[in-house]
Amino acid sequence: MSEIVTFGKISEIEANKLLVKRFGRKRIAVCSFEDKFYAFKDSCTHDGGTFDQETVCGKVIECPRHGAKFDITNGHVLSAPAYSSLETYPVTVVGDEIKIELE
Ligand code: FES
Repeated sequence: MSEIVTFGKISEIEANKLLVKRFGRKRIAVCSFEDKFYAFKDSCTHDGGTFDQETVCGKVIECPRHGAKFDITNGHVLSAPAYSSLETYPVTVVGDEIKIELE
């Protein structure tokens, strides 16, 4: 069963910067690209590395541990050493709040 959580305010997301928050046992990363927000599990599919808060986040994000790249708009893996997509979550904006649907 899915659960909708309030990630935070739009104003918390800086351009090209990742913001990571914990919800229960999950670490969720959010960044924006072309005025839309994208959410994904803060866990690289290569070896479970977390994305550093300082990671530059555009359409593509690079894992700081071994350099795997992912498309944040759909989670698809773009380069080794990862071979699986990131787990992504639907995002909606309600007023000035970012809502994320977690499974
Ligand atoms: S943990 Fe991300 S590339 Fe290895």
